Amino acid sequence: MGRVTLKQNLLLQLGQALSPSAQGLLRQVASLAESRGWQVYLVGGAVRDLLLGIDLKQDLDLTVEGPPLEGLPPAIALAQALHQQDPTSRLQVYREFQTATLAWHQPTPLALDLTTARRESYPYPAANPQVEPSTLALDLYRRDFTINALAICLTSPHPGELIDLHGGLEDLHNHVIRALHPGSFIEDPTRIYRGVRFSCRLGFAITVTDQSLMRQASQFYRQLLHRAGPGSRPPGLGSRLGMELECLLTMTTNRQWLAALNQLAQLGALACIHPDLIWSTSLQRQLRLANRCALPPWPGRLEVILAQLATTARAEAALALHLPQESLRHLEDLAAAEAQLVNHLGSWLTPSQAVVLFKGWSRSVLHLVTLRNPGPVRRWVWNYLTIWSQTPPPLTGQDLLELGYQPGPQFREILEVLLGATLDGEVQGRTEAISFVRSHFPPPKP
Ligand code: CTP
Repeated sequence: MGRVTLKQNLLLQLGQALSPSAQGLLRQVASLAESRGWQVYLVGGAVRDLLLGIDLKQDLDLTVEGPPLEGLPPAIALAQALHQQDPTSRLQVYREFQTATLAWHQPTPLALDLTTARRESYPYPAANPQVEPSTLALDLYRRDFTINALAICLTSPHPGELIDLHGGLEDLHNHVIRALHPGSFIEDPTRIYRGVRFSCRLGFAITVTDQSLMRQASQFYRQLLHRAGPGSRPPGLGSRLGMELECLLTMTTNRQWLAALNQLAQLGALACIHPDLIWSTSLQRQLRLANRCALPPWPGRLEVILAQLATTARAEAALALHLPQESLRHLEDLAAAEAQLVNHLGSWLTPSQAVVLFKGWSRSVLHLVTLRNPGPVRRWVWNYLTIWSQTPPPLTGQDLLELGYQPGPQFREILEVLLGATLDGEVQGRTEAISFVRSHFPPPKP
């Protein structure tokens, strides 16, 4: 543990893992920092993934250590210098957090997140952290897991040196997820979701101690949200949790994201979404089924989860998690759609009547209805989604013109009535369609 020079030169390995333009940028960053007497380190997920030999993301986290320059935190001054050298980059500065981001779209998408080495304190659980400049050692200590608290030095005098102050390398070798300190999950419960996501994605085991800390933190948040209500959760927690859920629910294989949700449920951590949420067998079945319909992984899968809650709780949680407006609307419409469809389908309807009924609801809402309502409702809505709504009328507007009808609002009415008769099996094929139209809508006299 400490500063480690690996046999294999890490800068060489990094060069092989990055595009030529990304390599060039890191060299530029290092040289700008050296000329100002600062140290720059690659940190976080990129170091973890490099050491594991898996593909790096297009977004690299850099920590800059050194004194301010003319009152500017070094990460911001360095990002501005780089932006001056390459004005094609998009620069964003976050003065309050002493960080800056530079993004390029060409030749390949790439983003550099530059952070001034800092320590963080949480004024209360799950608050947005307060930051103050510090050393790399304290910057690494503020992080979530040992495997994410590794750094590679990019600047002289020790370029390529690995900084491992918390045993991250050993944990990487042993496939272990371990938090840096016992307060980590209380400070930031999204770390429970991150730990589970890494465990499922990398096939690593969360230590027994951490599982117990995760359970305790989940219980703490269940009580907190229960008392205060999910609407008054600590600022920032909802949006951070929403982002983590997006990463988790869009994980590549079904096995991974379902396993991750299951693990979170066992730890009691789904309470962070809403304290009333229950990981029922019905919800698990719905999520498996959701894979088979065209529901988008994000935010569709989260809509399925939130739909389990009572109407007010659904809306509270969706707002707190910063779901897109469209999702809020789906969840809001769901209760009304279900009431209407379930009531009507109790009595006999023809397919054309069902189409009129279903047309008022978006496909996403109908997908939620099918997942939640097995039996006849599911069959009817599913038929609508996959067959009836996709069936065109057997004649087109051009056919109507050739039959002597004048273009206008009547065209639409004729085609709708014709489609209804086709769906109900009263009309089959083109010849029957023509006679149907002629008998129901007498053509204008020439
Ligand atoms: N981090 C943290 N606590 C969080 C989020 C992030 O300590 N709640 C730290 C970790 O050191 C992490 C780094 O910030 O490695 C960068 O975070 P992020 O880019 O969100 O994640 P990665 O670790 O890069 O993981 P992934 O590749 O899966 O996004």
